[in-house]
Amino acid sequence: MAQKKSTAIAHPNIAFIKYWGNADPNLRLPSNASISMNLDGLETITTIEYADNQIKHSLTINGLLQEPQKVNRLSAFLEMARKLYGFQGFLRIESQNNFPMGAGIASSASAFAALALALNDFFQLNLNQHQISALARLGSGSACRSIPAGFTEWKKGTSHQQSFATSIALEDHWDLHDCIIVVTAEEKAISSTDGHQRAATSPFQSARILDAQRRLEICRSAILKQDFERLAAIIELDSDMMHAVMMTSDPPINYWQPTSLSIMREVRDLRKKGVACAYTLDAGPNVHVICTAASVPAIEKSFRDYPGVEKILVAKTGKGARVI
Ligand code: DP6
Repeated sequence: MAQKKSTAIAHPNIAFIKYWGNADPNLRLPSNASISMNLDGLETITTIEYADNQIKHSLTINGLLQEPQKVNRLSAFLEMARKLYGFQGFLRIESQNNFPMGAGIASSASAFAALALALNDFFQLNLNQHQISALARLGSGSACRSIPAGFTEWKKGTSHQQSFATSIALEDHWDLHDCIIVVTAEEKAISSTDGHQRAATSPFQSARILDAQRRLEICRSAILKQDFERLAAIIELDSDMMHAVMMTSDPPINYWQPTSLSIMREVRDLRKKGVACAYTLDAGPNVHVICTAASVPAIEKSFRDYPGVEKILVAKTGKGARVI
């Protein structure tokens, strides 16, 4: 029995230890485990109900009916989910996003996290949080990390059931913020999905994977002990390692823009001057400056009028996905 309508909310997340490359691209089983922080205030709210015309799924984002290409990815996800959990029918899916899409602020993460939760509610699948996280992962790998609250870790796992994320610490554990320095809000040229496929062509990817366990342990313990210096060093290293893989893939991918690089340098200078901040970049040119609450005003002041900066979004650590 399905509900009449279900609505869920999820936040995007910023990875501290990145997911880049898949062991199984079809199931999105990653080559390495990853750690991230949910971003409060940035959100996707998704409502699902049965489509009037039971021929195909429809997807509306911020009031705009999406092109068939976008709906293909969604349909492939729903088809996999249907086979695993046995629900029927075509859906009308309406999503509202309050942040720019496709620019290194993972909108697919909050989108598939909200959708997985809404599906569980709509079809009354009675999945537990681990299972909902695994379901979200089938749509977008990083989405599994937006299901649990606060600081989360996706243990890679070797099967669909085993590959999900759990909380390392809840959102009120440590008052960290992400100041997202938006260099461009345009859609990125190479999607993460395409990028993951190229990762293995870089001679650096195997070294990155081999060293992942070490970086994960340092990051997890820095979060638990609220050790900002250690966190800063490991997240910058991990981001640089992923971008080194991207730049040395065949064909290469270069997400950084000149402004991104000068912001990274400025962040390091600020840290030397005692401002608790560190940079990390996902698959886009925007720089996520992770900082303590006390450092937010200094970051905003430094980058507000910085050449090439469009705007700054500030998010504190967010909750997990929830039905509303
Ligand atoms: C650079 O989860 O967006 O943001 O599974 O193909 O949707 P798909 O990829 P996605 O990849 C995220 C890549 C990243 C790093 C991260 O979030 O861990």
